[in-house]
Amino acid sequence: MKIENRQLDKFLRGHFKDEYENFLNWAIYPLRPIIRVNTLKANIEDVYSRLTKKGFILSRIEFLDFAFRVEYYPSEIGNTLEHYLGYIYVQELSSMLPVIVLEPQEGELVLDLCASPGSKTTLISQFMNNKGVIVANDVSIDRTSALAFNVDRMGCINVVITQFKGELFYKYYENYFDRVLVDVPCSAIGTIHKNKDIIKWWSYKKVKEFSKLQKSLIESGFKCLKRRGVLVYSTCTITKEENEEVIDYLIKKYDNLKIEKVSFPFEDYYYDSFGYGVYIRFGNFEPFYISKIVKL
Ligand SMILES: C[S@@+](CC[C@H](N)C(=O)[O-])C[C@H]1O[C@@H](n2cnc3c(N)ncnc32)[C@H](O)[C@@H]1O
Repeated sequence: MKIENRQLDKFLRGHFKDEYENFLNWAIYPLRPIIRVNTLKANIEDVYSRLTKKGFILSRIEFLDFAFRVEYYPSEIGNTLEHYLGYIYVQELSSMLPVIVLEPQEGELVLDLCASPGSKTTLISQFMNNKGVIVANDVSIDRTSALAFNVDRMGCINVVITQFKGELFYKYYENYFDRVLVDVPCSAIGTIHKNKDIIKWWSYKKVKEFSKLQKSLIESGFKCLKRRGVLVYSTCTITKEENEEVIDYLIKKYDNLKIEKVSFPFEDYYYDSFGYGVYIRFGNFEPFYISKIVKL
């Protein structure tokens, strides 16, 4: 693959160095799909057996009992009855990690500030066993429809959907939530293996614009958090401006917070230059950034 965008190509060469070619080879093909079983509606072993009887070959994800890699599919997994009934959700492994780090608990009040199309909202609901309340917000009316569809399909009855600018959310819900997920819009380099359009629009100017919005979003999310509450910030991109610099901005502005160390039971990640969060490596995973903050 050739990156026909000089700015992006320069960035990728600088970022990946010796691994640049490996990254391009990785980015050519989509990853094998991952499904997670929606334990709100279905039993893990029943779903495994239903899909294998239909000819799907699934391998287990070691550190997540409800997730499987689809090694072979006789038809699109998204066209199965199990998908339609909300027994499964097709979701990249990396996209599940922010929710694992957030650790939402039954009975809590959780804000998902940029929630559409709901991959993480519906997993939060699964972790909470439908108990407590999730406020799932997104600024986009079109994307909020997809969110409502997925919340409904997955049987998540503890979700309230709002459509509002995330950066202004704190005006109404200051010091309110036990946990806040800030999964921001970003320059999305991690998703290049499935969305080649990024190559057309990516620019440093865009990265700067995203960074500015991300700073307002994390700040708003932080203000919405109760004392001792937990905030997780995540992106599917790899620029410093959209990751550690956003966390650095928050740290410099507020002294009532601390960074919690993020770690996983696998080796495909490394800490950012400040040690504020982790980058998930490309390979079996899609590149992602995750940082965890506690309000003091
Ligand atoms: C990375 S996507 C979120 C993916 C979602 N969390 C999931 O896991 O399915 C970022 C979302 O932020 C939304 N967004 C963009 N600007 C926003 C803003 N100012 N306030 C709230 N949401 C915004 C976009 O519409 C998009 O749906």
